[in-house]
Amino acid sequence: MIIAIDGPAGSGKSSVAKAVALTLGFHYLDTGAMYRAVAAKAMAHGIALDDGVALREFSKSRRIRFAYEEGEVLPSRVFFGDEDMTDYIRTPEVDKAVSPVAGCIELRGDMLMKQRMLGSKGNYVVEGRDIGTVVFPNAALKIFLTACVEERARRRSLQNETRGLPSDFDTILQSLKDRDDYDMNRDVAPLTRAEDAIELDTTNMTEEEVVRTIADMAKDVRDKVCGADGGANDDNLLGIPEELQDLSCYEDARS
Ligand code: DC
Repeated sequence: MIIAIDGPAGSGKSSVAKAVALTLGFHYLDTGAMYRAVAAKAMAHGIALDDGVALREFSKSRRIRFAYEEGEVLPSRVFFGDEDMTDYIRTPEVDKAVSPVAGCIELRGDMLMKQRMLGSKGNYVVEGRDIGTVVFPNAALKIFLTACVEERARRRSLQNETRGLPSDFDTILQSLKDRDDYDMNRDVAPLTRAEDAIELDTTNMTEEEVVRTIADMAKDVRDKVCGADGGANDDNLLGIPEELQDLSCYEDARS
């Protein structure tokens, strides 16, 4: 069973998606981290951030891997090849670079299939921008998480402070507005609410309230639609070329 959580930058998707996964005992996939890892390394290699063909070739040359720290239930580290990119992909530099990279249709095609491959392996909470619309249109539950941009900037600023990253509110506010604009208006897989997604405006909700709301909805869906085991996800593999079903080029550390 797939729970798709989409929404704009800073809407709290990551913390909520992880907490929902923990509550339900699901796996967790952060698709934004995949685009971030490619963007970060492409920058270092001098690849133009809007050259979809080059980005696609480059992303094929290394494996993107999610890894667990000792004792963790959900993976918290992101590797591109052998390199641990976890901290660097959250820097403002990568925040800026990732939008054009994620807008490249050539790269998105491969990412989509890799994301579907992963999702076919069990019960997953998957977060991103196009999960309910493109990657998993048959997801059992689709959530579109929103919050007003000022609140999102406030949360991101606090989060950056904790991580020791630049946390100036006005700079973050502008960066979020720029990314919203880019993500919503790009040609390929733009950020938009799937027709059958449930929109949750979290501006005045605590994280605990959001998590409880989504987990309760998920439990209902699991019991009603999928049966207690959550149902199989094999239909997600339809249409994926065999060479991309080879998980050796992309896997999470659990496989
Ligand atoms: O969720 P995030 O901020 O880590 O996402 C980073 C970038 O990747 C952001 O510009 C949106 C883009 N993205 C996307 O286009 N599709 C996804 N499924 C996930 C992220």
